[in-house]
Amino acid sequence: MDLKDYIASIPDFPKKGIIFRDITPIMLEPEAFKEVTARIAEFAKEIGADLVIGPESRGFLFGVPAAIEANLPFAPVRKPGKLPRETISQSFTLEYGTDTLEMHKDAVKPGQKVLIVDDLLATGGTVEAAEKMVERLGGSVAGYAFVIELDDLKGRDRLSKDVPVLALTHYEGE
Ligand code: PRP
Ligand code: MG
Repeated sequence: MDLKDYIASIPDFPKKGIIFRDITPIMLEPEAFKEVTARIAEFAKEIGADLVIGPESRGFLFGVPAAIEANLPFAPVRKPGKLPRETISQSFTLEYGTDTLEMHKDAVKPGQKVLIVDDLLATGGTVEAAEKMVERLGGSVAGYAFVIELDDLKGRDRLSKDVPVLALTHYEGE
């Protein structure tokens, strides 16, 4: 199966000059959704992950089913003010300005090996912030899994070297 058949490319969305890579067709086709889930779950097992985390909101779409398939716990990474118990937060830089993400303090247990799952690796800011929180909570990142890597944005440069990356598809700015 070529997963790119289930990723729609929308020019000039959300603004002119950007090609939006839309993963929603994957979820409309159960065979494609199952393939993505199975490949991420297999990767989780290969790297010996103890926990899957995913950034709100598109990270939930693939992180949650992969965690269930791999029989692993899942913890959400959320935008500020959404998590009801004690949290830690981490700011990160965007092209213009900064953003912040949060996790529950008890989401990661010291020593746990964590797989970060997201739909898309673009500049890498989201994943970098998630990784910093994992480390501040005493865990370590054992792997990263993405449905799409936008190669030209060089997000990979912001990931830890020597930590395995699963990227199911790659796009350049075509
Ligand atoms: C998108 C995407 C990734 C992130 C990638 O999320 O789902 O999480 O951007 O960008 P980066 O590598 O430059 O950090 P977005 O913040 O648009 O929110 P959403 O998942 O709620 O749609
Ligand atoms: Mg996202």
